[in-house]
Amino acid sequence: MMALSDLTPDDINRMSYNELIGIVRETNRPPGGRRSVHEIAARCFLRPESRVLDVGTSTGFTAIELARTVGCEIVGVDINEESLEEARRRARRLGLSRISFIRGDAHDLAFEDRSFDLVIAGNLVSLVPDPSELLSQLVRLLSANGCLALTPMYYIQAPPVDLVADVGKAIKVELAPRFRAEALRTLRLPDCEVVYSADFEFEEVTEDRIADFCQQILSRSHLESLLPRSRDALREVYLSYMKLFARNLSHMGFTILILRPGTTSDDPELFSAVAIPAGVTRNLPREMVAKL
Ligand SMILES: C[S@@+](CC[C@H](N)C(=O)[O-])C[C@H]1O[C@@H](n2cnc3c(N)ncnc32)[C@H](O)[C@@H]1O
Repeated sequence: MMALSDLTPDDINRMSYNELIGIVRETNRPPGGRRSVHEIAARCFLRPESRVLDVGTSTGFTAIELARTVGCEIVGVDINEESLEEARRRARRLGLSRISFIRGDAHDLAFEDRSFDLVIAGNLVSLVPDPSELLSQLVRLLSANGCLALTPMYYIQAPPVDLVADVGKAIKVELAPRFRAEALRTLRLPDCEVVYSADFEFEEVTEDRIADFCQQILSRSHLESLLPRSRDALREVYLSYMKLFARNLSHMGFTILILRPGTTSDDPELFSAVAIPAGVTRNLPREMVAKL
């Protein structure tokens, strides 16, 4: 890892967004942030005895949130050492002991088969060229009745072609833009059942909020060791990425998807149910509903 004081503007401009995350020490969340993490913990019935693997952990948001709330044992893996350093710093600051962060490639992890009760691959599944290949690697790590939790992102409105290309350049990934049905199809595994699935869309973000956010991140004291011209380059590129992502996300949604290997021997569910908004009861006149 290069010292911040040695980074030139060219070094900064050459970095992908994922590398910049480690430099600025951003809190990089899965789509839906804390709410998605809590939903996954609850739906997977995580307990303090559970072992969890968070792949593509970045600066450790998901892993740290689960360590804080559930207290289970967690390993976070990422290919980016700079982001992992920040994840370790954050875990240390919070005094978390049952958490570790390891550098590794999600496609080639050296863990034993069936060693985790939950594997989370968040949005990493949207960034790899062959998600089903990645998933088959991850499924082998699951204990009996263990779960695989994903938060794939996809387009819900057709994006301009240049937008997809620019996002691809920013994260240095050749993106195959997918709509919901196709994105979820790539995550279908023959020997797994879907135990939970919920869809979301991203909210709009104003230019003012983007500017305030960037100002806050870039005024961190550790960045003072950058050369002034490198700091200027960082400001310019980071702000342009945030504007680009805001534009991109205004066309996107995501799903919290939980899969479990194996199929049950249960009969199909004939009498299924859907949630209805509070106060609305189908087939009953409103005045009767009020009396219920
Ligand atoms: C968008 S962030 C993920 C944020 C959040 N943890 C989530 O689950 O959505 C993607 C992260 O995956 C990492 N990554 C990309 N390819 C990877 C690979 N093959 N193995 C491990 N990590 C990878 C990147 O370095 C980056 O930190």
